[in-house]
Amino acid sequence: MPLVAGVDTSTQSCKIVVRDAETGALVRSGSAQHPDGTEIHPDHWWTAFTEAARAAGGLDDVAAIAVGGQQHGMVALDAEGRVVRDALLWNDTRSAPAAEDLIRELGDGDRETGAQRWAEATGSVLVASLTITKLRWLRDAEPDNAARVAAVALPHDWLSWRIAGYGPADEAPLGPDLTALFTDRSDASGTGYYDAEAPDSDGGTEQHGGYRPDLLRLAFGRDDVVLPRVLAPSEPGGRAHPSVAGSDVDGGALIGPGTGDNAGAALGLGMQPGDIAISLGTSGVVSAVAPRRTADGSGAINGFADATGNALMLAVTLNAARVLDAARSVLDVDYDELSRLALTAPPGSDGLVLVPYLEGERTPNRPEATGTLHGVRIATSTREHLARAYVEGMLCGLADGLDALRAQGVPVEQVMLIGGAAQSPAVQTVATQVFGLPIGIPEPGEYVADGAARQAAWVLAAASAPSATAPSWSTRVATTLDADPRPVMREQYAAVRDLV
Ligand code: XUL
Repeated sequence: MPLVAGVDTSTQSCKIVVRDAETGALVRSGSAQHPDGTEIHPDHWWTAFTEAARAAGGLDDVAAIAVGGQQHGMVALDAEGRVVRDALLWNDTRSAPAAEDLIRELGDGDRETGAQRWAEATGSVLVASLTITKLRWLRDAEPDNAARVAAVALPHDWLSWRIAGYGPADEAPLGPDLTALFTDRSDASGTGYYDAEAPDSDGGTEQHGGYRPDLLRLAFGRDDVVLPRVLAPSEPGGRAHPSVAGSDVDGGALIGPGTGDNAGAALGLGMQPGDIAISLGTSGVVSAVAPRRTADGSGAINGFADATGNALMLAVTLNAARVLDAARSVLDVDYDELSRLALTAPPGSDGLVLVPYLEGERTPNRPEATGTLHGVRIATSTREHLARAYVEGMLCGLADGLDALRAQGVPVEQVMLIGGAAQSPAVQTVATQVFGLPIGIPEPGEYVADGAARQAAWVLAAASAPSATAPSWSTRVATTLDADPRPVMREQYAAVRDLV
């Protein structure tokens, strides 16, 4: 039974699952933490990956490996394969002014025109998260670093490159071959200089999309940088270096193209067109798989690609699980007690409303905003009301994301709730009330790492049967909750969310 490994190099940690390629059964797993922060030296990802691999019992016996990762982070490499500066992550908002500048520049001075042009060219209106805005920031804020950039990669591209044995000459057995970098459509589609729906440049039938060097030039002032080769969904990017994985397997371990984490989760969940997931992790993500993206000039929906050849429409908030962490810290309680308190207060929390822009916000685009609490009265100054207001605020922001999907013509009939915070009884109950939809809660799992493992199994199968499809490992929906619409929460939230 061949084994495959799936890696999730996320904002907070590196997780690895080793699964049976045929059945999907979990064989081993391991994880290791990343340091906090919105800029980080990628070497920390490598250290965490090697620790997680050790904790998972090593990777010598895996026949294929793939990496899912936090999207958008700017990993700028010099000609020697060294990172030019710490990577700026998706949740670093310093490039917000650069995003605004680029929108106006593409619109010949007009913001609305520019927003629509970016949406049509790349699927997304620019916000600080997207890689291209970070390159503009680098050009202007750190010109010496910008001048040294020879290649730009994303976190998962860089980690895959290191797994293949590439890197700075004194650290990696195969040295700094920048042309060996590769990526996939899903993660490339979050850069801002790639069009996932461009006609195939090699005339093939597989849609790989195409880079937009003109947009890169607009942002960075030049386009003479190496960009990772964009692979098809089941195309291998090479083999893992035997010192990293696959040394006990004939021919070594294939490396899959990898994915952005949201596309990885969609693959792990087996999402098809029509399915909608809401993920409550560091970011809050409302996602839907669709055959084609739309171009939302309002910027609420990013039209990314998924990891199978479809589009992945996303609304992303910067503030999800950490809103609950903030509530726990204010109330000095654990998750169970937070949930119990929240369920003791009535829907709408008697008018106490939290607008949870605790770290600025991305959807809606308010990078400088802070959170606000409205409706504070003697009667609402209780721990129960406060707990409930934090849970409601987090979910109301995501309900706006669902509305934005509807506005793009995506039918929304039920949702799957995933991510650590989805296990909270208060979150589950309030979700049925705020979304007013039936809610499926899959078994808790590492869906991004699982999606990467599924991709690795697909790559392995396609190596001997090119028309192989992704293996159909099943995802169990453990609980389905009925809709219990209580419009009061969304009405109250809508009345104050723009007062920040
Ligand atoms: C998606 C996004 C986040 C990160 C978090 O656009 O910015 O979901 O991928 O990992």
